[in-house]
Amino acid sequence: MNPRMKIQLVPPTEGCRESFLRALREFRHEGLPWWVGGDLEGVEQDFAAFVARKLSDSNRRTETFIPATHLWAVAEEQFVGRISIRHELNDVLRIEGGHIGYDTVPSRRDRGVATEMLRQALPVARTLGLTSVLLTCDDTNAASIRVIERNGGSLRETKAVDANRTLKRYYWITLS
Ligand SMILES: CC(C)(COP(=O)(O)OP(=O)(O)OC[C@H]1O[C@@H](n2cnc3c(N)ncnc32)[C@H](O)[C@@H]1OP(=O)(O)O)[C@@H](O)C(=O)NCCC(=O)NCCS
Repeated sequence: MNPRMKIQLVPPTEGCRESFLRALREFRHEGLPWWVGGDLEGVEQDFAAFVARKLSDSNRRTETFIPATHLWAVAEEQFVGRISIRHELNDVLRIEGGHIGYDTVPSRRDRGVATEMLRQALPVARTLGLTSVLLTCDDTNAASIRVIERNGGSLRETKAVDANRTLKRYYWITLS
């Protein structure tokens, strides 16, 4: 295993433009980074607007969108991952997504980034008024299971969301 990386969580920032766009290309190779929010070309063309949208998500509420605080993990000024804290649950998040979701840039994986992102995000969730958080992950996602369990996640339930999909695990973390 590679040495663990020292990371800092920061709000989305234009300062990470180049490393963020490089990361997006990596994410693209493994599937559409849905959390970017659609238009990838647009992100490249107007990064400032993209960052502004991400920041404003913490105050945005629609019928389907719950306010979310996004934080980016930065190591030596490079974007290495992202984590998002949903301020509450709705019916969809209760089944899939939970309060907190995260991704590590593929080339930065297995160096403790997600474990550290979640560790640093939990006190932020507490300041948002949450006293416990739900994290969901696929029963086959060994890395994410490890991340959650290392951060005190308690497995509440494992169940099928629908018949054709992998079982999903439901973990809760109590915030102190
Ligand atoms: C899941 C994910 C976020 C983990 O990120 P990461 O930065 O590599 O995680 P970390 O390095 O903090 O730690 C992962 C732990 O799982 C272990 N691990 C990593 N890959 C693994 C694998 N394929 N099988 C088993 N264990 C694995 C690591 O060794 C580490 O264990 P350790 O703490 O005992 O050393 C990353 O793989 C990712 O972005 N995946 C795609 C998106 C995703 O699945 N997001 C989570 C949805 S619930």
